[in-house]
Formats: sequence, C-alpha cells, structure tokens
Amino acid sequence: MSRIFSGIQPSGELHIGNYLGAAKNWVDLQDDHECFICIVDYHAITQAYDIEALERRTVDMAVGLLSAGIDPEKCVLFAQSHVAEHTELAWVFTTVTPIGELERMIQFKDKSRRQESVLAGLLNYPVLQAADVLLYKADLVPVGEDQVQHVELMREIARKWNARYARGFFPEPQAQIGAAKRIQGLDGRGKMSKSLGNTVGILDEPDEIWERIRSAKTDPARVTRKDPGTPEKCNIYALHQHFSSLPVIDDVAEKCRTAGWGCIDCKRVLTDNIADYFAPMRQRASELRQSPGQVSDILAAGAAKASVVANETMIGVRSHMGFLPATQTQPAER
Ligand code: TRP
Repeated sequence: MSRIFSGIQPSGELHIGNYLGAAKNWVDLQDDHECFICIVDYHAITQAYDIEALERRTVDMAVGLLSAGIDPEKCVLFAQSHVAEHTELAWVFTTVTPIGELERMIQFKDKSRRQESVLAGLLNYPVLQAADVLLYKADLVPVGEDQVQHVELMREIARKWNARYARGFFPEPQAQIGAAKRIQGLDGRGKMSKSLGNTVGILDEPDEIWERIRSAKTDPARVTRKDPGTPEKCNIYALHQHFSSLPVIDDVAEKCRTAGWGCIDCKRVLTDNIADYFAPMRQRASELRQSPGQVSDILAAGAAKASVVANETMIGVRSHMGFLPATQTQPAER
C-alpha cells in the first residue's frame, strides 16, 4: 500500500477551492492508501498572521476536514507543531538545499515581492514542506497544481540527502494532482483563497453561500439580461460543472448562450446545488462542534501515531549522518 502525505494551512476555513483541489481527493484516497494529513501551522507563521486566531483556525480546519470525510480511523490527521521532528528534519535539509533553488520557487517570488524585508522562514518554506513529506517516507503527495514545483524540489532534496548520506533512504515522492485543477476565486482575479476573501466555505449556511455567489463575477459580456454570454468564460458555469447534474449543466450553458435567463437565475441554481452538496457536511460539523473535546482528541491521537514514524525516521537520519547517539550520553548505571 503506498503512503500519501499532504498538508493544508490552518486558514480556518475549508472552502470549495481547497475542497475540490485537495481535500476531496484525500477523502477518496484514504480507503486504499496509508494516509497522513497534516495541518501545517508552522508553515502558517511564515507570513503575518493573527496570533489570537491561530488556535481556533487550526481546530476549525480540523472540523472542516473531518466534516468533509477525512476518517481518523483510516487517516492520520494531526497538527504539524505537535510533532517536533518536522522542524528538526527541516533544519537538516537546509544543509543540502541550494539557496538558488529556493529563490526560484514561484510561490516564494510571489510572496516575497509583497514584503518589505524577506525573512528566512519564507525562503525555507519549501524545505519544511520537504521535511513534512519525507519524514513519513511518503511516495504520493496529492496537492493542487500550484504545489508541483515544491514537490519537484523535495525530490531533489531527497536525492541530495541520499547521495551524501544513505542511498535509497528517502523515496522520491510524486505529486498527484486532483481532477479539479484550479478553482477560480469569486472575484475572478485568480485562485480562490481565504486571504483574498473570494471563497465559499464548505460549511457556510445556504444564506451565506447566496451572499457570496450573488456578487460573484460572471462573463463580462453579459452586461444586461439580454446580452448572451459564453459559459466557458464564466466562473459560475465552471462551478456548476462541479456541483450540478449533467442535464442542469447543459441547460445552464444553453440559457447563457441564448440569454435565456439572467446571471442571477443561474447563480440561484448554483447556490442551491452547493448548499445541497454540503448539507451532510454541515450536519457533521455541527455534531463535532457540540463536543469540542472530540476534535482535540482526534488531533492528539493523530500526533501520537505520526510521532512513532517520525521518531524512527529521525533515528535513521541522525545515525547515517554520524551524530553521537543520545543513549550513549546517559549515565552507564542507574
Ligand atoms: N504548501 C502547501 C500549500 O500551500 C501546504 C503544505 C505544507 C503541504 N506541507 C505540505 C502540501 C506537504 C503537501 C505536502 O498548499
């Protein structure tokens, strides 16, 4: 059975973008893979963040993932900061990673451009990500398209470490891209992302979904109700393809091309379908929120299972690198 590892930032909200782009894929994979899903809180601190909110956002992300169908019986779900070996291995990997490779990362270039002074943590973000995956010697990394470059880099880090210290110790993990490649934000200005405020949360109530969808951008050619549009140019149509049935999708396209209805009608149908799709997940979330201890228990159990593997890998890493074993520094007799 191959082992998958993936991570998601504790943004507090699992939205339809990261649900379709990643989480849905994880739920499908957990039945026939060994599965580790990590809420990457140490990654979240590489940019300005709200200290007061971090804890709540971590729990909310766990609630989102569990509601979406991540099953703690099948899948190890945990918070990154609960397993110290992530940062430990990341340090080791900084010593085999060329700075030039890190500076080439598209996400680093994007994020550092918006910063006055670039911090080492942001540059080293992909090194920590490599440690996340390689700590578990995972071979598959199901992620969104934007993470492919980071997975390429972790393959290189694995190769470099192996070449220097122990041939074949770390496998070279493969990225696996889900069926839904890139979900556009509702503002039509790029990727759906919590920080851009252009999302629909999977746990949003129907009236909140409507608020979001109602003001979403559509094909700009449809200035008035009578102007026909091109469905392929409309993000609302793209979302229908994920949440509506085939006959409805065809009907939506036809009514758009012929100006048979207005965008608002199209949005109403989409809203209903999104609300229906996630109804069972809203139900599960409300059950989880009624017993708050349950989520912490699941994360603690996940961290305990993850620690067993992580600890074993680090013992191997330290030994291949020639460190003095910690046991020999203990007093000989007691
Ligand atoms: N960088 C990933 C993202 O922004 C999150 C992440 C951290 C991750 N560690 C990971 C994804 C390990 C896959 C594997 O989406």
